This record gives sequence, structure tokens and C-alpha cells, in this order.
Amino acid sequence: MSQVLHDIEKKIINSLQKKSEQTPENLCESTELSIDQIRRGIEWLRLKELAQIRESSKVEISLGQNGIDALKNGLPERRLINLIKDKPQTFDEIRTVLSGVGFNAAIANAKKNGWIKIDKSDLGSKISIKEEPVETPEEKLILLISEKSVNEEQIENKLAIKFLSQRPDYIIQNTEKIKTVSLTDKASQIDLTISNSNAIDVEADVSSVYPARTHPLKDTIDEIREIFVKLGFSEIQGNLAQSSFWNFDALFTPQDHPARELQDTFYIENLKSKKSANPTQIKQVSKSHSQNWRYDWELSESQKMVLRTHTTCVTIKYLADKKPDEARIFSLGRVFRNEKVSYKHLVEFNQIEGIVIGNNTTLRDLMGIQKEFYRQLGLTKIKFWPTFFPYTEPSLQTMVYNEKLGKWIELFGMGIFRPEVTRPLGITKPVLAWGGGIERIAMLKYDLDDVREFYNNDLKWLRTV
Ligand code: PHE
Repeated sequence: MSQVLHDIEKKIINSLQKKSEQTPENLCESTELSIDQIRRGIEWLRLKELAQIRESSKVEISLGQNGIDALKNGLPERRLINLIKDKPQTFDEIRTVLSGVGFNAAIANAKKNGWIKIDKSDLGSKISIKEEPVETPEEKLILLISEKSVNEEQIENKLAIKFLSQRPDYIIQNTEKIKTVSLTDKASQIDLTISNSNAIDVEADVSSVYPARTHPLKDTIDEIREIFVKLGFSEIQGNLAQSSFWNFDALFTPQDHPARELQDTFYIENLKSKKSANPTQIKQVSKSHSQNWRYDWELSESQKMVLRTHTTCVTIKYLADKKPDEARIFSLGRVFRNEKVSYKHLVEFNQIEGIVIGNNTTLRDLMGIQKEFYRQLGLTKIKFWPTFFPYTEPSLQTMVYNEKLGKWIELFGMGIFRPEVTRPLGITKPVLAWGGGIERIAMLKYDLDDVREFYNNDLKWLRTV
């Protein structure tokens, strides 16, 4: 036999050659190995077809609550006998004493055992003893298992078990699984006295392990956060529920803009925001809308609460409150859109959003930052395309070329905040802003063509990506 055996394997084989069938616990004792070593050793031996495991089960019986009660006070039928031992009693007399401890069961079982007889008379039926009641198998069983639980196989009177188990909560039957390890023929013949060198079989099969890991989407989020931090940006956070004021109005999105309609945005019913902006901010934003879009701006519309449709609300509120002269800020988190779920849209997804504010910032800087960000993610073939947002001018869209699909994919939107946005909020420096979906990036990274994959909890995929 040219098998290379580990010390643990040798000890297990040695023990099993002396005593052929053992549980892992027995093996622990006989080999003085730990239970983990035994389990591992058995698994190795099984893979080499040197050991086999047989599974069986045993049933342990112990007393239930009513059983414990019967041990103290007797079974209901025994209590009945004690009651009528000296003189016959009527049903009513017995019921008052035995109510709650199974009056019906007492009568039925005493009758079944042939212990009692019932004499009908005008004064009501009387119950008396017919035959001297001997100890029943059920009573013997209760006594037998009163000290500690007993293996069902060791109990001779199976009928007693059957009867007692049919009565409520007298006995508890606990099934325990037992593993027995034995050697295969091949292993029984191994001569352990012939020593082989203690070489380690580095090619031995091992079972795969799947340790806990972060979800691929979370990985992407962390990676993106890290890139912005490395580029010198600081993170800000905001609430998922926002007033329409910050989500739309402050961003110069007119109150009749299609994006604000119910079919695009989730509104929070019966909830109005009263204090999310200060009176000056409200007055100035209102003026910007009325003068530039030429309509009657309504305060109540801006007070409607929404699940934020983008993270730009967090950015603009930060700028309005802090009015920094210079800053590099990003924010990241979940946003919500009332869309039909499809391979490319979910009703909630994650966005990353960034701004640079400073004296000499230009569109060129904005594009440079984007290029650098994408480069760090390994995306190099990108281009910029003009587009429209109510709050930026000019507005651009990054496109990235997906080699596998052979087409250009839209990624981040960006632009320079319009004066109609910044001036009413007292922001005097130009603001470069951009934002977009994280799932899109993660899809490129993991080569997915359906965004729903991220939420399918497909373990096979999650273990291998
Ligand atoms: N808010 C835009 C979106 O959700 C992205 C954007 C952010 C565009 C900032 C311009 C400036 O797609």
C-alpha cells in the first residue's frame, strides 16, 4: 500500500482496527485526538475510501409534564381507584376531585383495565372497584424513566410506550442521530507497522470552503468611495426622504416638470416638510422660478416629501447651507425612481455624486476628473456627449465603450450648476457637478447584462465572482 497517511489518519485506522465500529466521540477517547481532528481525519479517510460512516438514530424517552405529575400523584385512573377504595362514589363526587387531571381519561382507562364497574341507580350511577388493580405497564414505564431518559430499544414493553405516547405530554420522545465510523476492507488490511515517511500529500483533495465575503455591489461601492477619497474628496450624507424643495425646486426643476410626476417619483403620502429650508432660501428660489420659467411657484408643492430621486439634493443643500469657496465633496447612496423594473432599471439603486467648487474651475477640469475616475476603475475608452439637465449648463454625459457588447453605454451626467441654481442660494463660485448610477459600473465590472442579478442572491454566482 503506497498511500501516504497523515498521523491523524493513522491513529484513527489503528483504533478502528482494534474496535471496528466507533462513534466520533468514542474515537476521541481512544485516540486522544480532538473532535475537530477526528472529524477532519474521518473526512480525509472517506475521500480516500478508507472509512465509511453509517448514520442511525436512537430514540430517548423521558417524562413530560403530565408524566412528572403522574409520578408524584399517580395516573388519573390510579387516583380514581384511591378515591373509591373505601366506598363507591358517584360520577359527580369523583368529578369534583378529579376535575382538571383527566376525569374522562381516568374513567376510560380504569374501565379498559377492568378495574371498575358502574352501577346505575335512581340516585345516579355509582362507581366501585371490580378487581384488585395491579401495577400497569404504563405505571412501570413512568417509574423506569423517572430517573433519567432511557433508550427506547431497552424498553421491553413497547405497548406501554405506545399507550403513554397517545396520552398528552406524559412522555417525550427525542430522536438523536448517531454516526458510526468503520473501516473499508482496504483500510482493514493496512499494516501500520510498516512506516512510511511523513511526507505531506500536497495534492490531496480538500473540500471547497466558502468564507463570508462582501457582496459584489458593496465591493464596487467601497471601491468607488476609496477612489474619491484618494482624489482628495470628502464624503457628505443626506436623508433618503427629502422635501421636493431640495430634490427639485432648489435645482431649478420647474414644478410642472415631468420628472416630478407620480409615475416617475415616489411621494410620501400626507407628509409635508415645513422647515427644510429657511425663508430666504425659499423666497430666492421662488423668485428664480417665477422670473426665469415664468409661472406661479407654489410653496405647498415644494413641501411635498419624496424618496430622493437623485443624490444631487444632498449636494445642493450642502452648498446652500455651507457656501464654501473651495471644496471637493462627494456623496453616495440609495435613490428611488418609480420605473418599471427591467434588465436595466430597478426602482431603487445607488448613485455616486460629486462636486468641485473653486475659483478657476472649468469644464475641462470636470472632464479631467471624470477621466481619472474612470481610469482608476479600468475604463479607458470614454467620450463626452452633450445632454440636458434643468440645473446645469453646459450639460454632458459620459459614454464608455463596452468591448464585450460592442457599444457605447451612458454613464455619469454632469455639468456646471446654472446661475439660476447657485445665485438664489448665495453660492458665488462656479460648481462642477456630476452623478450617476453605481449599478451600471458594477455591471461593467462583473460583466452582467441584467441589473437584477445583484439582488437575486444566486449563491453560485456570489461564490465565484
Ligand atoms: N442628478 C443627475 C442624475 O440623476 C446626475 C447629475 C448630477 C447631472 C449633477 C448633473 C450634475 O442622473
